Amino acid sequence: MNVFDKIGAAKLRAVITDFYDRVFGDVMIGFLFQGKDKQRLIDREFEFTAGFLGGKDIKYSGRPMREAHAQSPIFGGHFERRLQILRETMRDHAVDDEVQKVWLDHSYALRSQITSDKGSECKDTSVVATPALPDPDRPVKLGRKW
Ligand code: HEM
Repeated sequence: MNVFDKIGAAKLRAVITDFYDRVFGDVMIGFLFQGKDKQRLIDREFEFTAGFLGGKDIKYSGRPMREAHAQSPIFGGHFERRLQILRETMRDHAVDDEVQKVWLDHSYALRSQITSDKGSECKDTSVVATPALPDPDRPVKLGRKW
């Protein structure tokens, strides 16, 4: 049994449909999908995912990943958010563990084709001012008497 058979076409389509409903309505990344054809995205994502899970006779008919995302201002946080929504959707549909793993691993591996943003964490500490520590030898003066 290949990985695709552990989810099957009908369930895969149901998961992807729910996933895109959540993505389009999401406060953080929904705006990136404004004006996009949801049904078309569901159809392409279904073909794409079925393909790498090992579905037979299903061929991806969309653009390459890099090209499809080149016009969208996608940052690392947007990428992470989409993955989080995918994780939650799969969990809510009780998707088989191996399918979940293969799907998430495959998504992570595509990161550099989707966004050129290197990291999602805030590593730049140069803009954070270090607060001056109080001088331990100076008595603390209270500005106001209560
Ligand atoms: C591994 C992660 C991802 C996969 C597998 C994926 C998959 C896809 C697929 C199959 C399409 C359709 C391509 C076509 O129409 O030819 C698409 C389009 C799109 N994706 Fe992604 N995507 C990923 C990440 C993201 C992220 C992180 C965002 C934004 C948060 C995003 C936003 C979009 C948008 C806005 C489109 C429509 C582009 C257009 O039609 O102009 N995608 N994606």
